[in-house]
Amino acid sequence: MSASPSPLSVPVPPSAPAPTAAELLDFVRRTAEDTALVASLPLDPEGRTWIRLDGPGGSEAWLIGWPPGTGTGWHDHADSIGAFLTAAGTLREHSLAARLPTDGWKTLELAEDIDRTRELTAGRGRAFGRHHVHEVLNESVSEHAVSVHAYYPPLPQIRRYSRAGAVLRLEQTERPEDWQ
Ligand SMILES: [Fe+2]
Repeated sequence: MSASPSPLSVPVPPSAPAPTAAELLDFVRRTAEDTALVASLPLDPEGRTWIRLDGPGGSEAWLIGWPPGTGTGWHDHADSIGAFLTAAGTLREHSLAARLPTDGWKTLELAEDIDRTRELTAGRGRAFGRHHVHEVLNESVSEHAVSVHAYYPPLPQIRRYSRAGAVLRLEQTERPEDWQ
């Protein structure tokens, strides 16, 4: 006997399955190998530049140029998963090996030993899960870096933090209209 639909059920339109973090990483890797696309990104010594890309499965993707000495500051991507990979130059990622509570706090004292850092030379990248907290920097004094990023679901918000030693402080929540 088959169950009859609940009167509360809502039809769900058919859609492609959500991309996994591994699929996003595969996408950013393949995109970074498109040398013509990477070369098409305008580079500006005064600030970051970007091109919006079509990511797989409805994800949000970007090609980003980083002048020497630029960085994002500490932030997370709320409930989005993602991946990014360096296409040219070298990026440094500082991250926290902890999943932070999403809401209801203004400052957090971080436990010891949760800081991670990795150097991402051209062709190297990483995937990340929900609530990944990090900052990305181009520490070079002379070389631009270029990277490819993909997020799913498309970024509904970014939370920005300041960091003083072990204390992380929520500074603001940005919505797409603030930073696109
Ligand atoms: Fe990020």
